[in-house]
Amino acid sequence: MIHEGVIRLIEFADLPALEWEGEYTHFRRVYREVYEHYQMGRALPWVIELPRLGIIGQLFVQLDCRNKTLADGVERAYLFAFRIRPAYRNQGWGTKLLGFVERDLYTKGYRRTTLRVSKSNESARCFYERRGYSVVGEDCSEWRYVDHRGVERVVCDPCYQMEKHLRKPLAVARKL
Ligand SMILES: CC(C)(COP(=O)(O)OP(=O)(O)OC[C@H]1O[C@@H](n2cnc3c(N)ncnc32)[C@H](O)[C@@H]1OP(=O)(O)O)[C@@H](O)C(=O)NCCC(=O)NCCS
Repeated sequence: MIHEGVIRLIEFADLPALEWEGEYTHFRRVYREVYEHYQMGRALPWVIELPRLGIIGQLFVQLDCRNKTLADGVERAYLFAFRIRPAYRNQGWGTKLLGFVERDLYTKGYRRTTLRVSKSNESARCFYERRGYSVVGEDCSEWRYVDHRGVERVVCDPCYQMEKHLRKPLAVARKL
């Protein structure tokens, strides 16, 4: 089925939709924090929306963070929370969203995108490799967040750090 999709930045009212049907409720505070970073100019939370169907995917960008090998606010930007709803995978939406975000970052002066992918997520690593990303390191560090109930959760997921050198885009199109 062919749909027209629109890629746009999130609005406050979108936050509940990012929890899907409860699968990502535990990230409620994380999403709120991303939204606040966006308001401060430190993050770009992109979503892809289909008419009548709503948001079917997301890809967030952190422009600046403490770890300057990931994002330095100038040349490097960190991609995270990339997901397409299962029913819409393998139809090209993820490729479109990633390509759009890379082009947008290039026009803002960024020249490298970085990301982390779980070592157990081989299909995602291959997806990134086919789109120009290379493994540049490994990371076993824990990260912590506070869930929707106020409980601190610790995530320990060995992952690869990947990077891509961004090239000058041929065209910037917002509507697909
Ligand atoms: C990784 C992810 C975001 C990719 O999104 P997606 O929308 O499925 O990606 P695409 O459809 O653009 O591409 C995936 C595959 O679908 C196929 N495909 C792409 N466009 C297609 C089309 N129009 N018709 C049929 N198949 C298509 C291709 O085989 C493609 O793989 P390849 O080009 O790398 O060989 C998605 O699989 C996902 O949400 N995964 C779970 C969360 C996750 O692992 N995120 C990454 C965390 S680091």
